Amino acid sequence: MVRAGFVGWRGMVGSVLIGRMKEEEDFVGFESSFFSTSQVGQKGPIIDGEEKCLEDAYDIDKLSKLDIIITCQGGSYTEEVYTKLRKYGWNGYWIDAASTLRMEDDAIIVLDPVNRDVIDRGLSSGVKNYIGSNCTVSLMLMAISGLFKNNLIEWLTSMTYQAASGAGAKNMRELVEQMARVGKDSGSYLKDPNGAILALDRQVTSTINDESFPISNFGAPLACSVIPWIDKPMENGQSKEEWKGFAETNKIIQTEQPVPVDGLCVRIGTMRCHSQALTIKLNSDVPVDEITDIIAESNQWTTIVPNTKEESIKKLSPAAVSGTLTVPVGRIRKLNMGPEYLTAFTVGDQLLWGAAEPIRRIFRIILGHLEDI
Ligand code: HSE
Repeated sequence: MVRAGFVGWRGMVGSVLIGRMKEEEDFVGFESSFFSTSQVGQKGPIIDGEEKCLEDAYDIDKLSKLDIIITCQGGSYTEEVYTKLRKYGWNGYWIDAASTLRMEDDAIIVLDPVNRDVIDRGLSSGVKNYIGSNCTVSLMLMAISGLFKNNLIEWLTSMTYQAASGAGAKNMRELVEQMARVGKDSGSYLKDPNGAILALDRQVTSTINDESFPISNFGAPLACSVIPWIDKPMENGQSKEEWKGFAETNKIIQTEQPVPVDGLCVRIGTMRCHSQALTIKLNSDVPVDEITDIIAESNQWTTIVPNTKEESIKKLSPAAVSGTLTVPVGRIRKLNMGPEYLTAFTVGDQLLWGAAEPIRRIFRIILGHLEDI
């Protein structure tokens, strides 16, 4: 029986992954073991009524006995363990949510509703590393992969509205702490519905700029503000998050000619849904209803939100999408710049399609592949 080991299953992405696997009754057809970097010997998760004992995530010999390793432990773990394991002679499948190996030649970035063909070619040719994409890239491709597949895009920009979860669990807490602090400090001003609005505003501005305001994770206020920089700087003025847009999109879809992708990535005060405003230069003047049909057929999770105020505010928001696999696309219309310029807005759950779901699915695909050979 195939032996699969999970590392980093207790963290945020890992917990979502295990939760989804239980929901989908995925824990069948393989022997599972759970590894920890800090709690070896302690109790692990309960799978089908059986409590698993945690093994050492740095034990190369033990890891080398596995056919598949699934890690959501993060990039530092990958850096520390992956190469040692390969040098030790391990030839199993490495499935990773972290970015460390994404751009390596012997790795495939996985998003199977979009690039199942690339994955299948990789499996047949013996590729052993399958890495989850950057969340913004996954969610953009889940939304509009139909346009890429039909070669309709000359270039695109994605202006992002990224949730706190993308920065980590501590950041999600910090966002809510910031919001709570704003609520606490401005509470007295809210009691009077006719109170002076500028006094309330002054209080909020003073609170978020106060030196005691909790910003140790974000480095700046996010509640009642935005942070227009995600990840480290690149030499060309992009942030690393922006750099990934072009690099990862084109590695995922692997078209003959790379499609230019760029834009600004901005952190906003939502919990776990990323949103993106897209500007797309089409290769030709394709009518909006045809575009809409193509987007709708991208995959079974993509939904179209009609371009009305009522539908957009009800269905095209983090509030509506959080915790679901649905990827709505709306505000689809041509821009004033000309008939080849299209805009759209899309929202997706950063922890599901943006992180855990492609990992869950590639694991099932690899299991299927091992059964077939
Ligand atoms: N880098 C992303 C973000 C999350 O900061 O929102 C992971 O893909």
